Amino acid sequence: MGNASGGGPSVCPIWARCRLSLRAPAGARADKPLSAPPYDTGSRDEKGSADAMANSLIGRDMAVDLGTANTLVYVRGRGVMLNEPSVVAMNTTTREILAVGAEAKRMIGRTPDSITAIRPLKDGVIADFEATEQMLRFFIQRVHRRRYFAKPRLVICVPSGITAVEQRAVKEAGYQAGARRVYIVEEPMAAAIGAGLPVHEATGNMIVDIGGGTTEVAVISLGGIVTSQSIRTAGDELDQAIVTWMKKEYSLMLGDRTAEEIKVALGSAFPLPEEPEAEIRGRDMVSGLPRNVVVSAAEVRQALEEPLHAIIDSVRTTLDKTPPELAGDIMDRGVVLAGGGALLRGLDERLRHETGMPVHVADNPLDSVALGAGKCVEEFEALQQVLVSEPRR
Ligand SMILES: Nc1ncnc2c1ncn2[C@@H]1O[C@H](COP(=O)(O)OP(=O)(O)OP(=O)(O)O)[C@@H](O)[C@H]1O
Ligand SMILES: [Mg+2]
Repeated sequence: MGNASGGGPSVCPIWARCRLSLRAPAGARADKPLSAPPYDTGSRDEKGSADAMANSLIGRDMAVDLGTANTLVYVRGRGVMLNEPSVVAMNTTTREILAVGAEAKRMIGRTPDSITAIRPLKDGVIADFEATEQMLRFFIQRVHRRRYFAKPRLVICVPSGITAVEQRAVKEAGYQAGARRVYIVEEPMAAAIGAGLPVHEATGNMIVDIGGGTTEVAVISLGGIVTSQSIRTAGDELDQAIVTWMKKEYSLMLGDRTAEEIKVALGSAFPLPEEPEAEIRGRDMVSGLPRNVVVSAAEVRQALEEPLHAIIDSVRTTLDKTPPELAGDIMDRGVVLAGGGALLRGLDERLRHETGMPVHVADNPLDSVALGAGKCVEEFEALQQVLVSEPRR
């Protein structure tokens, strides 16, 4: 069995971090400067009063990265205006919504029987339609604050691997939330655009978007996805691997949120120059009482190995299926990592080792999809090619 509690002075207690961070997500996200559009959009608004009037009447177009872990809303001409966890807290019997976003996330694992805090999306797709629709409506109204008839056009990102039925459910949620027209863009395409890759050129671009529910690997050229793979192994599975491992090695029960904290604080995919350790508080499975243990980064890396292997494998399989010319381009230009999972320490180094390709992490991996979808909204006509549209019914 592992180390007992009460580590040395260099040990950082995860549970203390957890407690501190209880307020942090809301504050941190609010403090974060809203991402400006990566291109000039100011003139668009001054183009004339006709445009302005049309905007105020029909509402500004928006792009939504409806993620398993986080939802981001990009408003045309303004940038990313909202970035909240995809969590809804509701009354168990009446299903009345009590809180959405960061406020609801704080409730996970801490609710009485009468309240349930859920994540309405699982593995990148809608698991609870009603809650998703309510959450979407709440977020749109929050950034929109306009007359009730102001109906925006909406671009929503979906994983490339979802079925037609799942895609329709996402669209329907958009319409129910008040959109006048809903367009779909595949997440890897949006991530690639957001990461600044030249998707329209005749050159191979490889993007790996590791989110909460899905990992999307795609090779893009001439504005289209040439080959792709979407697996339902991503950040959430990494958290679960930590929960399982702590149970097995230390007989310690952890909540999902603590597991995520451990992943962010200690997780890595490749040996680090300095291997930190941290004190973790959980519930002892035998005594049922709280207990602290000290775990090292190397142990956490071992815990993450299985899902990490699946992610790395999906990159290799996609490279395997890539036509040689495009594979050559990727060898020159490198693989680009996006999504929150790209922030896992040493993942770029590990992929470099395992694939022999150059690997780069996008500038704002958590925002790439929203910025890419936002660009589609800014340049609607020019980028229509990448949108998947169909009449509502
Ligand atoms: N520093 C970090 N190290 C490791 N993982 C991180 C880090 N920061 C965030 N994550 C993880 O990234 C994931 C969220 O990423 P992201 O917001 O891109 O997902 P999402 O878009 O909501 O999900 P999906 O695209 O699968 O629907 C979470 O699992 C979170 O734990
Ligand atoms: Mg995502």
